[in-house]
Amino acid sequence: MTTHWLDTIDSTNSEALRRLPELAGGTVLAAREQTAGRGQRGNTWFTEPGKNLTFSIVLKQLSLQAARSVRLNYLTSVAVASFLESHGVKAAIKWPNDIYVEGRKICGMLIENTLGPGGQVMASVIGIGINMNQTAFPQLANATSLALCTGKEYKLEPALEEFLGMFESWLPRLDSEELSAAYSARLFRRGLSALYHDLLTDRQYRGVILGVEPDGRLHIRDEQGKDLFYRFKEVSYIL
Ligand code: BTN
Repeated sequence: MTTHWLDTIDSTNSEALRRLPELAGGTVLAAREQTAGRGQRGNTWFTEPGKNLTFSIVLKQLSLQAARSVRLNYLTSVAVASFLESHGVKAAIKWPNDIYVEGRKICGMLIENTLGPGGQVMASVIGIGINMNQTAFPQLANATSLALCTGKEYKLEPALEEFLGMFESWLPRLDSEELSAAYSARLFRRGLSALYHDLLTDRQYRGVILGVEPDGRLHIRDEQGKDLFYRFKEVSYIL
């Protein structure tokens, strides 16, 4: 992978998408400052300049069908969780792809794919924000950083290379059972009784996350023993 550090950019995902035709697969655009970082559901991703990792990985020629694009979420989530674990913190994946430590969000990702005529993923821009050195989050009630968890300060450039090493080591296993198992094993609240909001029926209930299905749906069993399967945006966690 080849990393390019940019001093300031609106969003590394937006920049990667603008330059997609010219960027080779394996290019990583990292920013010291993002002025309009983008998050899930059209949200803004705020981070203090120079404190955190904000970067996008461009992948091409993946031979991945769009229906299996959830594998990229698994890969990225497992790579981030392994990276954090290598720094001594226990990370959990809040389905589908937020990374939590000690019940607080430490990392978010925004994966934007372009599809070819045959329903193949032609290119993927995997945007990742990992909170590294920021210690105050005035806009966010439930955020944390690696520095807050460990009391240490991190150099961003070597940390990114370390992360990319982990990401690359999982890439050949994109379709593997091993990746699914590594993802499932780290699911936030797995096996624990907790509260959920079914957005399809507007019902709040207590249930237990059992795992994910091969197609990426989250499997929750409610207290009556009913098995429920959710796609993205069909269920929310009551925290
Ligand atoms: C989320 O809402 O949890 C997703 C946040 C994704 C943020 C990263 S930071 C690098 C990349 N560039 C962006 O504009 N967004 C992603």
